[in-house]
Amino acid sequence: MIVPPTNVVPVHHAILCSLIMPKQETKKRIEKLKAEINHHRYLYHVLDKEEISDAALDSLKDELFKLEQKYPEFITPDSPTQRVGGKPLTKFKKAEHRVPMLSLADAFFEKDMSDWEERANKRLKEYTPSLIKEEEKRRRVLNSPISKGSTAIAGRGLGYFCELKLDGLALSLRYQNGLFVRGATRGNGKIGEDVTNNLKTIENIPLRLRLPKEKELEKIKIHPSSEYRQKENIKNIINIIKSGVIEVRGEAIMAKKNFSLLNKKYKKIGKAVLANPRNGAAGSIRQLDPKICKERQLDFYVYGLATDFGLETHEQEIALMRLLGFSALKENKLCSNLDAVNAFHHHWEERKEKLPMLIDGVVVKVNNLSLWDKLGIVGKGPRYMIAYKFAAEQATTKVVAVDWQIGRTGTLTPVAVLEPVSVGGVTISHATLHNMDEIKRLKLRIGDTVIIERAGDVIPKVVQVLPKLRDGKEKLILAPKKCPMCGSSVNKVPGEVAYKCINKECYAVTLRRLSHWTAKGAIDIEGLGPKIIEQLVKAGLVNDIADFYTLSIGDLKPLERFADKSAENLITSIAEKKTIDLERFLIGLGIHHVGEESAIMLARKFKISNLNELISYFKNLKIEKLQNLPDIGPIVSQSLHDWFHDEKNINLLKRLEKSGVKIRVSNLKIKKGKLSGKTVVLTGSLNSLTRTEAKAKIRELGGKAVSTVSKNIDMVLAGANPGSKYTKAKELGIKIINEEYLIKITET
Ligand code: IVH
Repeated sequence: MIVPPTNVVPVHHAILCSLIMPKQETKKRIEKLKAEINHHRYLYHVLDKEEISDAALDSLKDELFKLEQKYPEFITPDSPTQRVGGKPLTKFKKAEHRVPMLSLADAFFEKDMSDWEERANKRLKEYTPSLIKEEEKRRRVLNSPISKGSTAIAGRGLGYFCELKLDGLALSLRYQNGLFVRGATRGNGKIGEDVTNNLKTIENIPLRLRLPKEKELEKIKIHPSSEYRQKENIKNIINIIKSGVIEVRGEAIMAKKNFSLLNKKYKKIGKAVLANPRNGAAGSIRQLDPKICKERQLDFYVYGLATDFGLETHEQEIALMRLLGFSALKENKLCSNLDAVNAFHHHWEERKEKLPMLIDGVVVKVNNLSLWDKLGIVGKGPRYMIAYKFAAEQATTKVVAVDWQIGRTGTLTPVAVLEPVSVGGVTISHATLHNMDEIKRLKLRIGDTVIIERAGDVIPKVVQVLPKLRDGKEKLILAPKKCPMCGSSVNKVPGEVAYKCINKECYAVTLRRLSHWTAKGAIDIEGLGPKIIEQLVKAGLVNDIADFYTLSIGDLKPLERFADKSAENLITSIAEKKTIDLERFLIGLGIHHVGEESAIMLARKFKISNLNELISYFKNLKIEKLQNLPDIGPIVSQSLHDWFHDEKNINLLKRLEKSGVKIRVSNLKIKKGKLSGKTVVLTGSLNSLTRTEAKAKIRELGGKAVSTVSKNIDMVLAGANPGSKYTKAKELGIKIINEEYLIKITET
């Protein structure tokens, strides 16, 4: 076996070879390496292709770095090794924009867009009547009349180029003789800050422009109508790239994934976290030390060309910038009229969460560049483009209460109960507060006006308190001393922010209690089974049964398995069961020892039809009086008495009442029927009746449905696959009836 000497650092074979190369050959090798690395950069960032692995690319960069170290005279500013550029600055230089960086007018609704188109058309008509005629003629020839909402003249048959509106920091990049020489922020539109060194750290910003091949330029159909102009133009473009000054505009962004990874890391090392990806991008570029910017891993996407290449459309500008080595969003799309623009806007408003970066709307641009000058600028924005924004995701509302939700591990999580508010078209009534530390950080009190934010897939959160709007009635939020679910003690976990209920069963009990309310035997709410309930509890939306009735579509939509329709369906089925028969209501409360029979007995006796009456009735009812009722023994009486004397339960009833839950007296008259005075047990699965229906029929016929087989019962109603109850009934010689018999005696 050959053991390598320990003091020798293994060197890559290729690097070893090139390190002993003569100087002139090294120069050539350096040039080739730079070209190769740039080629792969272009493939990766512009064409989304990967021909060699990251590791292989790193290895090429490493070789280049080592060669440049040996011959520093060969280092050029566009070398991939120069991306961690320069020393920290003490301040940024000013950077003047030769072409001002404008801003955009906003649109929110389809009507804003048709108004915008109308204004543009009107202006074009005023300025160029011949142009309009030309367009109308062209359309007649094509047999395509100008329809309502068509492109029309504003598009002059070339349509609207629609781009996603990235939420980051606007930048202008200047290239001279193909070399990246200056990058600047927007500033006031005329003068920004020179952030060149920071921008060099952004991998998808080319340090040198790629020189497109003539064939590639031909493909972007610069002037399809004239072969001669096409050739002239291509030559012209190549000249400008090689020896002119080019300025491109675009947005630097921080990908969402990157943002959360960085924040995780920052949290771990106790560094201040970034507020959101937009601040992440903007803040990084304003760092005086480029190392920090490099660590933040930003991306840059172009959306504008501030140099005249004599092109015909904005779409061609984007295609050209891609050939120069810039990343442009693949999602951008040419739309032929406003209907298509609206469809594009709708499509991305629905799917924006799936994108790797934040967007806040769509930018719609008249594609025909010859119209840009004619349309001109109004205020600070051009008339030939508009920001078609998505519905706002923030709103202000008041915090009316803070609920504590139990988690699987017993952790209690605070949730803000809000005055319902519409955010981005959906109503929100809850927002997570995470933990006590977050409440302290926000300095939140009950009654505060807050800014809440909702972003598609995530649970809404309170992002800021507006303390100036306080009126003095706000209440401090205290950590719970007793678990609001089970009343057990609550402990603060040492070294953690969490508070925990000491009762290990608490979470399971909460789930069971909630499922009991929605189950068939009680309120029977369709689509609200144990799985969904657990999801709601986990999301911090539901704690007790009253919480079901304050849920909104907007609360459900961010949850897994919920889409628009299913969220709407669940809210509807909860609302449909808001008026509840008294006996079902009593069953649903899950009061110890109060089963179906006792509930029916109580409902028959006390014909109470509103919740306030129910509260005062039971609070004042003496145990002795309860005990005198048939079928209500001392255990049930005591349990009822205790339940109605617990403030927590009374609060729950009051909250149910407040959220619109009503009780009613159902027709529970005992009929003198074929089962009068008979006690029946149900077992096995029935065919045409549900268990609830079968029990109702038994009651209708004057009988009583109970659950335990004993010698005191009169008969057993047995369905398919009956279990031990059936066997026991057989042993005791009890009469067995079937479903058909029950139906028959009901009908006769
Ligand atoms: S065009 C006249 N296109 O939105 C300004 N802007 O609200 C030309 N933005 O400052 C901008 N994505 O930072 C344009 N596809 C896009 C954009 C975009 C994001 C930003 C840009 C601008 C701001 C205007």
